[in-house]
Amino acid sequence: TRVLVLNGPNLGRLGVREPEIYGADTLDDLVAAAGGWGSELGLDVDARQTDDESQIVSWLHEAVDTRSHVVLNPAAFTHYSYALRDAAAQVTTSGLLLVEVHLSNPHTRESFRHYSVVSGVATGTIAGFGFGSYRLALDAIAARLA
Ligand code: DQA
Repeated sequence: TRVLVLNGPNLGRLGVREPEIYGADTLDDLVAAAGGWGSELGLDVDARQTDDESQIVSWLHEAVDTRSHVVLNPAAFTHYSYALRDAAAQVTTSGLLLVEVHLSNPHTRESFRHYSVVSGVATGTIAGFGFGSYRLALDAIAARLA
């Protein structure tokens, strides 16, 4: 079972960017950790990051076309990208799982982070556990498929 782990803008800066919020580990560390958790769970994880909205939209289309489940950290796009929401909706309405994840808990932060345009079309959302959010998301996908 293939799972695309998609990361949005500024997540390539993990380790450098606001480490008090996002931690000291890097995107490479996250990609390695997610791949390892995937193997433990029997999931074929393909983890990617982009700062480009159109790229994430394309990757979500790819998920539909290749019947891949998705773990999505939309980063700031979470809060305003209807294009991302519409692409995410195509994943879940085609019977695939899409788990929205956040490293931080956006609800404890600025008010513009309290609303997600993606949550309403996601299978579920996990936030606030750092890299553990991704692990919980992969666990949830494996459990749902078992
Ligand atoms: C984030 C939370 C978003 O509000 C923020 O724009 C990000 C990262 C998180 O993982 O905590 O870039 O999605």
